Amino acid sequence: MTIRLGGIIFGLVLVGVLLAWSFIPDTVKYSAPTKSPYYAFHEEKLKPAGGFSFDGLGGKWDYQQLQRGYQVYKEVCSACHGMKYVAFRNLEQLGYTEAEVRAEAASWSVPGLDPVTGESTMRPAEPTDYFPSPYPNEIAARAANNNALPPDLSLITKARPDGANYVYSLMQGYVEPTEEDLAKAKELAGGVEWETPVGLYFNEHFYNANIAMPPQLYPDLITYADGTEATVEQMAQDVSAFLTWTAEPSLVARKQTGWFVIGFLLFATGLAFLSYKQIWAEKKKKKA
Ligand code: HEC
Repeated sequence: MTIRLGGIIFGLVLVGVLLAWSFIPDTVKYSAPTKSPYYAFHEEKLKPAGGFSFDGLGGKWDYQQLQRGYQVYKEVCSACHGMKYVAFRNLEQLGYTEAEVRAEAASWSVPGLDPVTGESTMRPAEPTDYFPSPYPNEIAARAANNNALPPDLSLITKARPDGANYVYSLMQGYVEPTEEDLAKAKELAGGVEWETPVGLYFNEHFYNANIAMPPQLYPDLITYADGTEATVEQMAQDVSAFLTWTAEPSLVARKQTGWFVIGFLLFATGLAFLSYKQIWAEKKKKKA
């Protein structure tokens, strides 16, 4: 009897801990600290009104949005950033047909070899190619960007805490520094009176507030294929959603699998309980 009671209490405690862990942030700490001193010049990040469509337990992709985000990447960001882990054929997952993907790939050039002379040239991309870097190598990339390296964007939303909101904020972080910002920047600089260095830009969401990337988004910078109005928030949100998809295309499938697994475990618990009843039925009858 005591063993059974102990077992029940142990089980309840375990379930409680697991529930707290999964539903209440920061109750149970595991692995990396959630707040990194880096990338926290402003700890409060901007969030799109209403959040992203893929947030939360029942998150879903908004394919229209992902297509718009791809358009922002193509027309703006790809001038400096590659995406070496994303292939053109992956775009089919955003709802483009095979023919559209083939045509889309062909509108990009990738490094290739001349079939006759064997010399390096550029050729139109195939669906199996990966999004190229706009620079032939790191030296060229740095030379064009004030010695800063524009990182590959395939995994950037995974490489920064709260990645989708971070990219969304970073795109909109080019503001006039406030008094508080100036004080904090001075502290970061070891007490030196702070000024944005030549060739860098103040960005209140970049970790040291001085970023080598110039402001990118302006109202109506691009004309969306689906007619959506190209406000800065809209483009920032769309490109962050797109970069969330590039970093984890299986995000939504993973959440759905979670629900399936929970359902299956409940079902298995029911079966286990029934077989427990069955196995002990004889003994209990004898005892009575
Ligand atoms: C003119 C070139 C240029 C363009 C165009 C550009 N970037 Fe950048 N980007 C840079 C450079 C340079 C850096 C490195 C900044 C640094 O380290 O100071 C950078 C860094 C970044 C980072 C990483 C910041 C970090 O936390 O380290 C992100 C995210 C980013 N860019 C997103 C974008 C997006 C999204 C677009 C398109 C809307 C874009 N960039 C367009 C040059 C560019």
